[in-house]
Amino acid sequence: MTQYKNKLSSNDEIKSQFPIFDKNEIVYLDSAASSQKPFSVIESINEVYANNYANIHRGVYKLSQTATDMHENAREIVKKFINASSVKEIIFVRGATEAINLVASSVAEMNVSPGDEIILSRLEHHSNIVPWQIMAKKNKAVIKVAEADENGDVSFESIFKNVTSKTKIISITHISNAIGSILPVKDICKEAKSRGILTLIDGCQAAPLLEVDVQDIDCDFYVFSGHKTYGPTGIGVLYGRENILAEAPPYQGGGDMIDKVTFEETTYAGLPSKFEAGTPNIVGAIGLGSALKWMQDIGINNIYEHSKKVINEGINILEDIDGLTIIGKPKHRGGVISFTYKDIHSHDLGTLLNSYNIAVRTGHHCAQPTMQRYNVSSTVRASVGYYNNKEDFEALAEGILKVSKVFENV
Ligand SMILES: Cc1ncc(COP(=O)(O)O)c(C=O)c1O
Repeated sequence: MTQYKNKLSSNDEIKSQFPIFDKNEIVYLDSAASSQKPFSVIESINEVYANNYANIHRGVYKLSQTATDMHENAREIVKKFINASSVKEIIFVRGATEAINLVASSVAEMNVSPGDEIILSRLEHHSNIVPWQIMAKKNKAVIKVAEADENGDVSFESIFKNVTSKTKIISITHISNAIGSILPVKDICKEAKSRGILTLIDGCQAAPLLEVDVQDIDCDFYVFSGHKTYGPTGIGVLYGRENILAEAPPYQGGGDMIDKVTFEETTYAGLPSKFEAGTPNIVGAIGLGSALKWMQDIGINNIYEHSKKVINEGINILEDIDGLTIIGKPKHRGGVISFTYKDIHSHDLGTLLNSYNIAVRTGHHCAQPTMQRYNVSSTVRASVGYYNNKEDFEALAEGILKVSKVFENV
């Protein structure tokens, strides 16, 4: 295993910010599932629990006010990170999955009547399929799918080919978690807006990688998860246009989201509280704020340029391996490469790679319709974060060749 340790040296400066790499000799190529956490994020979480922790919003004492300020400061950081126009548009949720469920069951349910249509793309994560199916079933709405082409691209035309006068919502991913395609979300949102169609962008794979400007994209909703943006688990963001969220019914009822409660009637708090019932993930939000600040300090463009370079190097390295097939060759790619190798099952390949300390994800990546489109039941997925480098892909290639030898000897 020491051979990999030596290979990490060129990237030591960046890796040294991530304590996990001190404790584990690992080639970590699974950031699309969850990214590792820099010291600053871990420290900020420890700091709140050790020095500043109390429940927020309702406390009159100093500690509660400090924790409230830290929590609300995190909301301000998120607002700036995605260039929302107001903190009222930033709802803290458990993650992208909860954000999409919230929109599907609150905003959308209100806007969708029997026979209305919702457009998704072929490349969606199950989290951007199933909530819409549940809602469509209740509201007797119809789900339509914009196809991806053989390269893995979902074009503007593919989306709008499906649009009719009944289309109410287009909900699509910014970057496919399964094969890495970047979708032309800005063009799609602009056209949708001109036709009065609501748009939701699943930014799970984009927020850790690209400069996201929700006003420039002009979407109605944008969602992402903290744990993929170098932050903690259990926290995520729903951005929603203020006028739409203000009209929408609450998603869950409970403390914090009310104005006045009697047994006869309840009136609701304003935004964003109306959508944040119960004690929130206080420390998670603060940790997310630190993560986004860490990204901003590095420079989102630097993160993107670095990841793009590493991904391109990774593609060159993997393409040279006989019997390896990269699934999808999209025009623009995020931090993900999916592939199959000979007829070795992805789980066998991933398990053997693990024995060489290489962490990749295997399976359908919660995107079974994507797998169906490309006639595979599963793939191996290598995905990058800011801490990865070319050497990680060289180690992966070396690992794959070792696996091949294991199979030759069977
Ligand atoms: C594109 C995409 N959407 C949605 C999700 C769901 O995110 P979470 O499980 O954090 O809610 C993921 C997670 O892998 C994802 O990659």
